[in-house]
Amino acid sequence: MAAVAKSRLAIYPGSFDPITNGHLDLIRRASSQFEELVIAVLRHDSKEAEFPLSERTEMIRDSVTGLANVRIASFDGLLVDFARQQNAGLIVRGIRAVSDYEYELQMALMNRKLAPEVETVFMLPGEAYSYLSSRLVKEVCRHGGDISDFVPPHVAEALRARRDRQGGTG
Ligand code: PNS
Repeated sequence: MAAVAKSRLAIYPGSFDPITNGHLDLIRRASSQFEELVIAVLRHDSKEAEFPLSERTEMIRDSVTGLANVRIASFDGLLVDFARQQNAGLIVRGIRAVSDYEYELQMALMNRKLAPEVETVFMLPGEAYSYLSSRLVKEVCRHGGDISDFVPPHVAEALRARRDRQGGTG
């Protein structure tokens, strides 16, 4: 297979702790726009992840089985270094609401300063997902709420199993 042109190889980075239907909506949209999409899972973060990298990656893998041009990788350190290493010209980020914009703008401009050749592209997830976040899904699950509309079934199962192991409500 011919190498994908730099401008057509996009990276979709995040913690994915865990992947939600909002992430998946964006992945589907981005994979239809770019030749290849690399989902870049952050290995370590300042905030401790609920799920270890292996489980977060596995949950993503089981969610994107139908998407032939999507690849999963993990990274540590600077995102732009990973983008360069992958020879990617684009970073894709989702903006759900105006409240996301300030942080995303700051990050995009810092990344541009660090790596001017890497462009950030903002995409909008479907409006049905505009209130969805991994953090809220975990919170709802912890307190025994129904999360089936928010994450794929295997992710809901993993979240419930984790809650039950930790002795949460419900
Ligand atoms: O969707 P998330 O979980 O908020 O993702 C944040 C992520 C992983 C994109 C961001 O924290 C990141 O890029 N971290 C890597 C370190 C880095 O490059 N920091 C400088 C960005 S300005």
